[in-house]
Amino acid sequence: MNEKAKKEFNTFREIIENYLSKSIDVVYPEKIYNSMRYSLLGGGKRLRPVIAMAVAKLFNVSDEIILPAACAIEMLHCQSLIHDDLPAMDNDDYRRGKLSNHKAFDEATAILAGDAFLSYAPKLIIEKTPKSVDPKLILDVLKEFFIAAGVDGIISGQIVDLDSENKNITDKTLNYLYEYKTAKLFKLAVRTGAIFGNANDNQINALTQYAENYGHAFQIYDDILDVTSTLEKLGKTPGKDTNAGKSTYVSMFGLKKAKEQTSFLCKQACDILKENKINSLILEGVADDIVKGIEECS
Ligand code: IPE
Ligand code: IPE
Ligand code: MG
Ligand code: MG
Ligand code: MG
Repeated sequence: MNEKAKKEFNTFREIIENYLSKSIDVVYPEKIYNSMRYSLLGGGKRLRPVIAMAVAKLFNVSDEIILPAACAIEMLHCQSLIHDDLPAMDNDDYRRGKLSNHKAFDEATAILAGDAFLSYAPKLIIEKTPKSVDPKLILDVLKEFFIAAGVDGIISGQIVDLDSENKNITDKTLNYLYEYKTAKLFKLAVRTGAIFGNANDNQINALTQYAENYGHAFQIYDDILDVTSTLEKLGKTPGKDTNAGKSTYVSMFGLKKAKEQTSFLCKQACDILKENKINSLILEGVADDIVKGIEECS
């Protein structure tokens, strides 16, 4: 990402950090609020809410309007990570450079903290989106949120991911799990910005296609990092996918092909933006960053 994009990304990220830090007060019973704050604050690239803000900016949507929904998306992401790390799922002890939620607290608390986010986040959208916004747009955004969060999204992706351990799966199943466990959240991010911006159908479709390509690339890159990076750099345990027998693009087609596919998908994502005259330094920049990132993986 170029310097201008980086500056804008960091500005958005600071605004998001600030909003998130004030989004959960600790009251009785303190344990659940502390557990939610533990996973939500102090770590994470904040990619999805930054992307939501970047799209909102394309359509001149104010920060005040996009922020509650952007932060709700980060909360949903955080929920997916807390549950993804549980012993019954990926059984990972580290997340975002510190102990995962169930290690810092306990399993029951981690399950409940994840559950709590699933209702806390949409409640934030309902409560905090300015009253001046057309309620129809808020309903549309909430529908997108529930699609991404539920069996139309992450949950089905995660069950296929877990069910594909130590199995030979088809390309179609691999695409399904990337689409549902990862790309759906990026789709939610772009569509939320676009809905608040009253974008037309062509624009929404183009942004959705961008997110689909970027989301797939993002997950393959994550799978590449699992086999090439370190705990220090990742903030989570590397080598976990191989140990768990996960079916990934890397395990099925090898590192070289995985890198080629990632670059191809990122290029495709950027081409969709160009073809549709969507000029966003951040959307292009995050895709460029993956292309640069994989060059350093070996
Ligand atoms: C991790 O997402 C989960 C995947 C979809 C691979 P991120 O890499 O965006 O995690 P954080 O938010 O920066 O910790
Ligand atoms: C991420 O898949 C998908 C979700 C968390 C929904 P991974 O299991 O690969 O994510 P990491 O590597 O643990 O972050
Ligand atoms: Mg997983
Ligand atoms: Mg995992
Ligand atoms: Mg991973």
